[in-house]
Amino acid sequence: MEVFYVLWTALILLQGLGVNANNVHIVYMGQKQYENPQLNQQLHHETLASVLGSKEAAQSSMVYNYKHGFSGFAAKLSHSQAKAIADLPGVAWVLPNKILNMHTTRSWEFLQLTLKSTKGLLHKSKMGADTIVGVIDTGIWPESQSFNDSYMGPIPSRWKGLCQEGELFNSSNCNRKIIGARWYIKAYEAEFGPLNRSSVREFLSPRDALGHGTHTSSTAAGDFVDNVNFLGLAPGSARGGAPGARIATYKVCWATGDCSSADILAAFDDAIHDGVDVISVSLGSPPPLDAYFDDPIAIGSFHALEKGIVVVCSAGNSGPYSDTVTNTAPWLITVAASTIDRSFPTAFTLGNNQTFKGQALYTENHMGKSYNLVYAEDIASRDAAASKARTCEADSLNATLAKGKFVLCFQTRTQKPSSAAALTVYNAQGIGVIYAQIRTKTIVSSPIIPCVQVDFEVGTSILSYIQASRSPVLSLAATETAIKKTLAPQIAFFSSRGPSSLSPSILKPDIAAPGVNILAAWPPVSPPSDMPLDRRIVNFNIESGTSMSCPHVSGIVTLLKALHPRWSPAAIRSALVTTASVTDEFALKIVGEGAPQKVADPFDYGGGHVNPNKAADPGLVYDMKSENYIPFLCSMGYNTSAIHLITGKSKSNICSRSSSDLNLPTISIPNLRGKLTLRRTVTNVGPELSIYKVHVQSPPGVEVSVKPKVLSFNATGSKMSFRVILKTGLNLEGRYSFGAFVWSDGVHHVRTPIAVRTVEHDSFI
Ligand SMILES: *[C@@H]1O[C@H](CO)[C@@H](O)[C@H](O)[C@H]1NC(C)=O
Ligand SMILES: *[C@@H]1O[C@H](CO)[C@@H](O)[C@H](O)[C@H]1NC(C)=O
Ligand SMILES: *[C@@H]1O[C@H](CO)[C@@H](O)[C@H](O)[C@H]1NC(C)=O
Ligand SMILES: *[C@@H]1O[C@H](CO)[C@@H](O)[C@H](O)[C@H]1NC(C)=O
Ligand SMILES: *[C@@H]1O[C@H](CO)[C@@H](O)[C@H](O)[C@H]1NC(C)=O
Ligand SMILES: *[C@@H]1O[C@H](CO)[C@@H](O)[C@H](O)[C@H]1NC(C)=O
Ligand SMILES: *[C@@H]1O[C@H](CO)[C@@H](O)[C@H](O)[C@H]1NC(C)=O
Repeated sequence: MEVFYVLWTALILLQGLGVNANNVHIVYMGQKQYENPQLNQQLHHETLASVLGSKEAAQSSMVYNYKHGFSGFAAKLSHSQAKAIADLPGVAWVLPNKILNMHTTRSWEFLQLTLKSTKGLLHKSKMGADTIVGVIDTGIWPESQSFNDSYMGPIPSRWKGLCQEGELFNSSNCNRKIIGARWYIKAYEAEFGPLNRSSVREFLSPRDALGHGTHTSSTAAGDFVDNVNFLGLAPGSARGGAPGARIATYKVCWATGDCSSADILAAFDDAIHDGVDVISVSLGSPPPLDAYFDDPIAIGSFHALEKGIVVVCSAGNSGPYSDTVTNTAPWLITVAASTIDRSFPTAFTLGNNQTFKGQALYTENHMGKSYNLVYAEDIASRDAAASKARTCEADSLNATLAKGKFVLCFQTRTQKPSSAAALTVYNAQGIGVIYAQIRTKTIVSSPIIPCVQVDFEVGTSILSYIQASRSPVLSLAATETAIKKTLAPQIAFFSSRGPSSLSPSILKPDIAAPGVNILAAWPPVSPPSDMPLDRRIVNFNIESGTSMSCPHVSGIVTLLKALHPRWSPAAIRSALVTTASVTDEFALKIVGEGAPQKVADPFDYGGGHVNPNKAADPGLVYDMKSENYIPFLCSMGYNTSAIHLITGKSKSNICSRSSSDLNLPTISIPNLRGKLTLRRTVTNVGPELSIYKVHVQSPPGVEVSVKPKVLSFNATGSKMSFRVILKTGLNLEGRYSFGAFVWSDGVHHVRTPIAVRTVEHDSFI
């Protein structure tokens, strides 16, 4: 799994690890055979013993028993043993274990989710009181002020979880805020051997050594903490989306960045048993996407769904390219990342008195000092190509020439982070970096030397100055924190984009939420950046990634669950998607960061940017039950045993029903030929007597009509169906175009986004 935050150097390290010859296998035995978990466990041991030849061998090979969401186990098996088990009666599937890697203050005011308004969701939901969010991640730092329980009431009596002890973690580390903590390393160690603790800092317990899980947990449900900042920047009070909610932490990812699928499934199994309401998963593996029956998050979340638990996942950080979105199962909420209206301008002045602004997170004062400025390409090391020096790749600069100077570097490969350039310049004894790069608000903090990010326009002006000046110089001011000085939201450059490469008929991502430069809790043992030499100790840190946007939505979902405890996961997702904003507070269309900037579309943000207060009262919802997903899985070409694995449902004629169209709050048609009619059903969750009229915005090239045009409801909870007819005269391989239809009763505006691509008519070939 990939922890979806922008952890650049760790990602480079991870790519080197490659695939391990694995011997852990997940043996899936379908729906639980017995209500009593002991009996299921016994069955698993007998099944394993029948192939391994003895109880003792089964005992030592067994890694996990899965017994709550579904029945099965994980065990260390040779290839031939795995095959023998797969052939046993009662065994539905054997999956090899996989390795996945690891993918606030201001953001909540920005979402207008504040206590100031007694009409808002935060107030109405009592801040999420007594709902429980499970976070599957790198663990938690329990001493953080964000997890102080002094204002929390007693632990909800329905809670069945526990506080699992371990290294520097005992039952005193759980409280009325962190009500559960568990850790899963058995499959990881069976795969990689014991964690090498002399090369990485790690705790064999729920305690977080990396920071990722502490950051995501406090973003979802951290308590109020006043006077928080990151080295003086972004000052304010910090809190999570649902400050009244409880947290249960499930640690599955370890300091090497790896998370094992058998461990992740065990975490889902326990979370389902423990009684969480929402599961937040900021992990994934990059494309190509695995089939749903081969994806632990898809399988685990389906079993969660059946218990009414909402699962929220990060979309991934592989943007801005299309077809990069991950975690695309239709029963998950997939979250893209957006910018907020806080920025960190850092001014600098050249020797010709021209002043520019870039962005940095550097707080030491360089005011008044003047530094020599050089262009990296002009100080290339003898052995380095000019193109490598220009972008300040490792070891490309001549230290004699760089010493004591500010160096101007230009990003060439997209997404190469400024911190890599800063490290190169630092190693060449330079004193600072001006890094010209694609336009993005995402700041990579550089602890060792100042690193100011500018766009190519500013970078080019600086280069002109350097080339025209005999002794170019620069002076730098300290970074400031600016609020409302930048148009927001925008979809973050790195945020993975749709369509889903696995199932393009399911619109993904579902929604966008803040994920850029987010301040949240951090363990003091983990340096705030992943750069070597970073020895700073902080209790709050600024991070970016869809890992950060996911827990924003998890927090909001937790509030919605508190306000509407009987809503299904599908209804909650619908409420979020149909009320999301596609414009900012100035009524300007939201754009996507990228080259060049463009108006954002549903492949950037699904329904749009999350609007929590509106989601609390959506008017209508598209509802669904878990069995409604089965025809869709049939349409994916999955056979009975694959569907059994995902859903636990087994019937020989499971795929007899023909319509695979899901009652989703979105429409995505990858292959429109001529004409297509879809059916949707909405449930009235607003006032008894409501009359909704439809307004259609057809995608260019496609004519969309909705029938009937008026829906009159006479009861809350009643359902009405309508047809959506899409027609095109284009007989060609088209590109996606986008539209929407909006049901409106004058108060509620229920917006359903449409993405459609025409294809050539067969008859014309
Ligand atoms: C928790 O917060 C309360 C109230 O602000 C404070 O008195 C207490 O010291 C805090 N507890 C810890 C462990 O920091
Ligand atoms: C937990 O550990 C702390 C620190 O070592 C210790 O003070 C405390 O007594 C322990 N609590 C329990 C319940 O063991
Ligand atoms: C553990 O890591 C250290 C430091 O990187 C290394 O010297 C040692 O050989 C490693 N031990 C094992 C068992 O891999
Ligand atoms: C820049 O401004 C300073 C102070 O205002 C002035 O002394 C200096 O001559 C100016 N330099 C240039 C190149 O204009
Ligand atoms: C670095 O630059 C100095 C001065 O121009 C030169 O003498 C030296 O050979 C260069 N070294 C490398 C490795 O390029
Ligand atoms: C079902 O599909 C999977 C994956 O495509 C395949 O490995 C398996 O053999 C199939 N099972 C049956 C019973 O056809
Ligand atoms: C509501 O409308 C439905 C369908 O139009 C009708 O069958 C039903 O009797 C109505 N109920 C009330 C309470 O008016």
